[in-house]
Amino acid sequence: MKLEGKVAIVTGASAGIGAAIARELSNAGAKLLITARREDRLQALAEEMPGETAILPADIGARETADQLLALAKDKFGRADIIVNNAGLLSTNPLENIDLDLMSKMIEVNFDAVVRLSYTFAREFKAQGSGAIINVSSIGAIMSPPTWGVYCGVKAAVESFTASLRIELGGTGVKVGTIAPGTTATEIFDVQRERGENPVEQDIDAVEPEDIARAVRFMLEQPDRANVARLQLFSSAESA
Ligand SMILES: NC(=O)c1ccc[n+]([C@@H]2O[C@H](COP(=O)([O-])OP(=O)(O)OC[C@H]3O[C@@H](n4cnc5c(N)ncnc54)[C@H](OP(=O)(O)O)[C@@H]3O)[C@@H](O)[C@H]2O)c1
Repeated sequence: MKLEGKVAIVTGASAGIGAAIARELSNAGAKLLITARREDRLQALAEEMPGETAILPADIGARETADQLLALAKDKFGRADIIVNNAGLLSTNPLENIDLDLMSKMIEVNFDAVVRLSYTFAREFKAQGSGAIINVSSIGAIMSPPTWGVYCGVKAAVESFTASLRIELGGTGVKVGTIAPGTTATEIFDVQRERGENPVEQDIDAVEPEDIARAVRFMLEQPDRANVARLQLFSSAESA
């Protein structure tokens, strides 16, 4: 796919990996619709990116967000070509401290919203005979360390769901894949600390969000005949 002029929607674009993916795709000539809850950050990123942009401040867990995103993309740009489901949160706690509502929120944001957005855009892309869906998984999809059960279980579910959707859409012109980052230097661990959690960061040089963004661009820029079904990009020092 040539990214020039394509319309890309990136969720969780107010920080970290999502912001880097939005920048990378905008620099490649795509038109960007970015979404997250923090409007000020979306606005700042939209002003910084070189191409056409639109923002939708919204909770990705809300039932109506998927339809709102598709409607805004069509209204502002006339179509949609790419959806990157990146928004996510991480909460790990020993069971004595588990916040069950936060676990449910993690399932809603990291999985339910991915399903809702993937299906909403898959229907659109199948009807137009082209499009790409990239779902952000994690190194956690292939691990189950203590206290990480919900996060890892949900990321494994994202991978399983995405693989099934890829096969269902085979031959339709719609490409589907997952990217599984290893430990990446973002504020996701700061957010955990602010919540009083004890992030299990490894003492390694993490990859940067820009590394993940370049990998997403690589996935998208494959010729029509090639689909990167799954890409793992881990720190070269990662022990998993
Ligand atoms: N960092 C890592 O080591 C790592 C490794 C593997 C996979 N990942 C995955 O990569 C993705 C991005 O993570 P990151 O490290 O870049 O995290 P981050 O810096 O904390 O950014 C998370 C993004 O998700 C958005 N978000 C969270 N809850 C939301 C909600 N309810 N509604 C809408 N947006 C929401 C946040 O925006 P607002 O707060 O403004 O809503 C923010 O833009 C996640 O899916 C994560 O699981 C990260």
